Amino acid sequence: MNYEIAYALGFHPWEDAAEEPAFVEAITRLFEDEERGREAPYGRALDLGTGSGIWGIELARRGWEVTGVDNVERVLDRARDRVDEEGVEMELVHGDVTDLRGAGIETGYRLILDTGTFHGLARSQRAAMGREVDAVAASDATVLLLAWEPRWRGPLPRGASRREIEEAFPDWTVTDVGPSNFVAPRPVELLMRPEEHWYRLRRDESTP
Ligand SMILES: C[S@@+](CC[C@H](N)C(=O)[O-])C[C@H]1O[C@@H](n2cnc3c(N)ncnc32)[C@H](O)[C@@H]1O
Repeated sequence: MNYEIAYALGFHPWEDAAEEPAFVEAITRLFEDEERGREAPYGRALDLGTGSGIWGIELARRGWEVTGVDNVERVLDRARDRVDEEGVEMELVHGDVTDLRGAGIETGYRLILDTGTFHGLARSQRAAMGREVDAVAASDATVLLLAWEPRWRGPLPRGASRREIEEAFPDWTVTDVGPSNFVAPRPVELLMRPEEHWYRLRRDESTP
């Protein structure tokens, strides 16, 4: 999927998820699970393929110290505006998820969020993203990754299976898989059949 063109055309239907109560409820529950038993500030969070920053901003509002990364400069401008409007602190970095260290991303991230980037990458890019996440994640980090069930969808993301996710994150354990509850508009649902799931991965199996 060419996000540069999509954003230039104003095509970003994934942002509609923020208006979908069932989706918001599911993602909020995931965030709450990572925060349970702790006090804010919760530590560093990395929003991979942050887009206009919707979910990174939500994490910042909840008390995470957030960095958002995207490789499309145009959408980072929108993210900057949104950050200003919301009055939160969030670092925004122009960079590629396959070379986080090259983009200046440091280490110690306790939460890594991906709402729709990994599942559109090629296999070698996914492996590179997995390696980069390994390099910047804290030892007790969690990855929350959203992926469609894999199938050919033309220029749209192919999706990723659990096995493909595990292949890119060989040192991590998938602890939970659940529906995202996103209900796409009817024509989109029929055409793309996203069947979207959340995957929660933990690096350190000894902590829940
Ligand atoms: C489906 S959109 C999701 C955006 C945002 N996370 C959201 O939920 O609103 C995927 C995002 O990943 C970004 N992206 C795709 N490939 C990337 C890469 N290799 N490195 C950095 N960002 C990438 C795109 O520019 C786009 O903003």
